[in-house]
Amino acid sequence: MARVALVTGGTRGIGEAISKGLKAAGLTVAANYGGNDEAANAFKAATGIPVFKFDVADPAACEAGIRQVESEVGPVEVLVNNAGITRDGMFHKMTYDQWTSVIKTNLDSAFTCTRPVIDGMRARGFGRIILISSINGQKGQMGQTNYSAAKAGVIGFAKALAQENAAKGVTVNVIAPGYIATEMVKAIPADVLKAKILPHIPVGRLGEVEEIARACVFLAGEDAGFITGSTLSINGGQFFV
Ligand code: CAA
Repeated sequence: MARVALVTGGTRGIGEAISKGLKAAGLTVAANYGGNDEAANAFKAATGIPVFKFDVADPAACEAGIRQVESEVGPVEVLVNNAGITRDGMFHKMTYDQWTSVIKTNLDSAFTCTRPVIDGMRARGFGRIILISSINGQKGQMGQTNYSAAKAGVIGFAKALAQENAAKGVTVNVIAPGYIATEMVKAIPADVLKAKILPHIPVGRLGEVEEIARACVFLAGEDAGFITGSTLSINGGQFFV
């Protein structure tokens, strides 16, 4: 039987590429999304991957949504915690709502999406949990105190959870993408992107979503069983940890 993977935020951007990559690798994939029905329906029509709408910032919605995935698709053996948002702004101008919305969606989701699947993974003796962090959680980024805090937080979460579950066949790893050609990065003011970001990427270009997806497929596979608690930086040489 093909293993079942759930990708949060799996219908657009990096998540879309991960969903497609896991499917191409032979897994049965379910893709979560938060709000954009049009994009999710187009994704479903194009890929045949079922989509499940629930808010990763809402614990009860995640519990119910993941139960629905498990009853319709099967027990989740691979979880990719990818869903994320930005609400950029200098800290001295940041509102509490900008802060909490990013912390809830990008960090609380590590709890809300992992908690419903961890018991099953432990009981079955196999699991792959992959969290999508960011270069900006590793190095910090002006305009992103909220996002940098959340993305750094998931790295600590993964290191602790990896230790708790290593003996149960469940690995927990992080991918920290750099600047990838997605809508999120394209939303950066063009002058800032050109003057402040691109010159700092030694490879000389934005990354492609498939470059993240390929690493995710590897970490999700049987061959990656000795890799746990690690953070894989994929950033074109922009920052070395
Ligand atoms: N790197 C370096 N300098 C930056 C910068 C950045 N990313 N963003 C802004 N600055 C600089 C500006 O160029 C400007 O410098 P000067 O005064 O010398 O021109 C200064 O900071 C102030 O910027 P603004 O005038 O734009 O101030 P603002 O209050 O209107 O907006 C901002 C500030 C919200 C930070 C806005 O500039 C912005 O959105 N910047 C982009 C922030 C960013 O990089 N976000 C990453 C999004 S992609 C992502 O998050 C995905 C991922 O994981 C990598």
